[in-house]
Amino acid sequence: MRKHMKLVTMAGMLALTACGGDTAPKDEAPQSAKPVESAAVEGVPSVETAKAEMVPVAVEAPAAQTIPASNAPAVFAQCKACHSVVPGKNGIGPSLAGVFGTKAGHLEDFTYSAAMNSSGLTWDVATLDSYLKNPREVVPGTKMSYPGLKDDTKRTELIEYLKTI
Ligand code: HEC
Repeated sequence: MRKHMKLVTMAGMLALTACGGDTAPKDEAPQSAKPVESAAVEGVPSVETAKAEMVPVAVEAPAAQTIPASNAPAVFAQCKACHSVVPGKNGIGPSLAGVFGTKAGHLEDFTYSAAMNSSGLTWDVATLDSYLKNPREVVPGTKMSYPGLKDDTKRTELIEYLKTI
């Protein structure tokens, strides 16, 4: 824990150093044109080096970037650990792109549970609403390990969103 914090602190210091390196030469600039030129050449690689060294420290960065900013309601954060909205990009759960109006288990490149495949459901407002409220009750044996979203308003928001992707 301590070690990790130290690493983060070091990265912060590196970033500070990089910024300092960027601005400091400008203070010296009035003296002559030459130092400015060499400072600019030196300054650029040093910022890049600092950034490159920071990458391994910023462990959370890739997860936060998996889904581009969109019109998804905040509650979709509960889904995106398992579901992408990019067509063909399955994760733990199937891609939800275009799911509204399809038959449950329609994707050929995702291995659904037998329960989902034989559920006979079509994803309209009513079926999505009941499945998202209580997945295991509506499709007993589903492998979607999500306890269900009990908030009616948030479920409606979510379904409105699913219609658009
Ligand atoms: C822990 C992972 C996980 C979470 C969290 C999760 N899902 Fe799922 N979801 C799955 C899996 C796995 C399946 C496939 C279920 C099966 O085959 O029984 C699935 C299936 C679905 C389906 C049916 C898709 C199809 O192609 O028939 C929908 C719709 C769905 N999820 C929506 C959601 C929404 C909306 C949320 C957020 C409220 C959510 N899921 C949260 C894993 C998850």
